[in-house]
Amino acid sequence: MGIADNLKTGLKLPVIAAPMFLVSGPDLVIAACKSGIIGTFPALNQRTSEGYADWLEQISAALSPDDARYGVNLIVHKTNSRLEADLKLTVDHQVPLVITSLGAVSEVVDSIHSYGGVVFHDVISVRHAEKAAEAGADGLILVCAGAGGHAGTLNPFALLGEVRRFFKGTIILSGALSTGRDVAAARLMGADLAYMGTRFIATREAMAQEAYKAMLLESAAKDIVYTPAVSGVAASFLGASLQANGFTPEILAGEKPAMDMAHEMHEEAKAWKTVWSAGQGVGNIEDIVPVADLVERLRTEYEEAGADFVQNFNAGTVT
Ligand SMILES: Cc1cc2nc3c(=O)[nH]c(=O)nc-3n(C[C@H](O)[C@H](O)[C@H](O)COP(=O)(O)O)c2cc1C
Repeated sequence: MGIADNLKTGLKLPVIAAPMFLVSGPDLVIAACKSGIIGTFPALNQRTSEGYADWLEQISAALSPDDARYGVNLIVHKTNSRLEADLKLTVDHQVPLVITSLGAVSEVVDSIHSYGGVVFHDVISVRHAEKAAEAGADGLILVCAGAGGHAGTLNPFALLGEVRRFFKGTIILSGALSTGRDVAAARLMGADLAYMGTRFIATREAMAQEAYKAMLLESAAKDIVYTPAVSGVAASFLGASLQANGFTPEILAGEKPAMDMAHEMHEEAKAWKTVWSAGQGVGNIEDIVPVADLVERLRTEYEEAGADFVQNFNAGTVT
């Protein structure tokens, strides 16, 4: 199906700046959309639904009809007591893109469709993908191995190939994508859009603390630890940050119980404030830049990668 027409407006590069807890807010979203990619944030980055409404107003007031569209992430789960109120605000503000996590629920999809909004759902397996397709999601975000946050464990080629066999909607690829060449590779694999989280933490507009951004620059794939020890659900964390918070190798190896297994959402929220998440793409991040400069660079790399490919492909040579 490709990308829905109402998300193509203002889009200069097939990229979504992924929603990140405690990291993405209005500055990042507005800068992303003005640079020509889709900017997003989690509704829960504001403590209350009133705060969420303020951000929606701030973002829609700053964007012009020619800018790229924006999106929000809603956690569709019984532990999210704000879901009903946040969904209503999302519909009232006609948010162009809604990214649902955890539950793929057809009532939520119907509410977003009622005003012409688009729904993408996060998945880490074919089973999740089938359920989301049944619920009517317009797109599936394949969160593969090496992603930041609650990453999946599957190889992107394997998951994308299997999902493409039955899903005709938009496919969004996620996991360790850091450069324009990575975006081109995602497209070549059959994804419609690339989903980049960690790369956007290292931008001026990200709400992450400076020490967090600095740690990203010093880290590489080998420093990312995928562990359930922090919140009870496996996620990717910066090793140095785990260490700084007392997660010893014994705790991480499961030989000792973790100090604070956070099963409730508010507990998990606390944990993420001090234990910092990142994907395996960190080794390819070397600077903290304004979003506009990053997007410009990604565009150049994307175009160069395409040109190289066409040239080599046409030449039919393997060198
Ligand atoms: C610090 C951090 C926080 C995240 N928070 C959320 C979130 O609140 N909701 C969500 O759907 N995904 C969240 N993610 C996952 C991202 O949306 C995205 O899938 C992931 O970052 C892509 O992998 P990458 O970081 O390797 O680019 C988070 C990722 C990171 C790194």
